[in-house]
Amino acid sequence: MPVHGIKNVCVVGAGNMGHQIALCFAIAGYQVKCTDINPEVLKKAEEFADRYLPERVAKGKMSEEVARQARANLSFTLDLKEAAADADVVVEAIIEKLDAKRELFARLDEICPPHTILATNSSFIVSSKIATATRRPEKVCNMHFFNPALVMKLVEVVKGPHTAQETAQIILDLARDIGKVPVLLQKEIYGFLVNRILSAITHEALYLYDMGIASHEDIDRAVELALGHPMGPFRLMDLTGIDLSYYIAMERYRETGDPAHKPSPVIVEKFVKKEWGRKTGKGFYDYSDAK
Ligand code: 3HC
Repeated sequence: MPVHGIKNVCVVGAGNMGHQIALCFAIAGYQVKCTDINPEVLKKAEEFADRYLPERVAKGKMSEEVARQARANLSFTLDLKEAAADADVVVEAIIEKLDAKRELFARLDEICPPHTILATNSSFIVSSKIATATRRPEKVCNMHFFNPALVMKLVEVVKGPHTAQETAQIILDLARDIGKVPVLLQKEIYGFLVNRILSAITHEALYLYDMGIASHEDIDRAVELALGHPMGPFRLMDLTGIDLSYYIAMERYRETGDPAHKPSPVIVEKFVKKEWGRKTGKGFYDYSDAK
């Protein structure tokens, strides 16, 4: 049941996260327009929706009516203006580059009605760095989903110093309404909660790998079998994207100047070779047979 009168949601960026975030909203009954500048990415997002919803029905996890309605709620367009013009909430899930996000938010500020909330799904960029590109900083915040967004329950909502209490409350209620469990960060901090904790584990795993102490398979096995994590750190980097691991490390290094935060040699190597994990068919593991 839509909350705070919100009906229309726009998801900008149909990649690894955006295509599933769009589906989360569509399944919950919101009208969703999903947009991307890359026609191939948008086509893949639409194909995923066309495959995913019938699969849920076939598995007995979703009724035919919910699946039919969800698909009807969801549309895809290359035109940002068309996607965002009537949005009550925009969730941005584009590349993790600050300049690109600021440019997009400035455009969204022009396109969207004054009441529209602009949320970023960035993994680590705090919204105060983006909000100043708009004339509505009080309506800007972080709404951070986890991969795969259709499965993972948590959403981090981060309230910047510019974010109105009402904006944070609406996003918290919206997250609950789509079946997620939100946590609120009252202050901005780089990497929020989860990625700070995750990066400590990943950093150590990469150190052990780069030192030749153990293979990535054995490090994953150790974390999965001893700590009970569903995926070891290398399998998880393949899921979230090695390009993202690279951008996160580079940004943190730029911010702190601390060489300890530089991307590890194997991450640089895989970034340059475009071995970005599942999305490119190869990362630490091979996915050439995957759909
Ligand atoms: N997309 C959508 N649904 C998926 C999926 C995907 N890529 N992968 C699995 N699923 C669904 C399956 O359909 C299945 O649903 P069902 O039980 O309702 O039928 C369910 O997830 C379980 O799938 P499987 O049995 O095939 O596989 P697993 O039990 O191994 O679960 C997993 C897969 C959910 C991905 C699990 O391995 C997991 O939880 N991994 C850890 C994920 C994680 O840590 N995510 C957070 C990453 S950090 C992040 O995202 C932050 C960002 O900023 C980088």
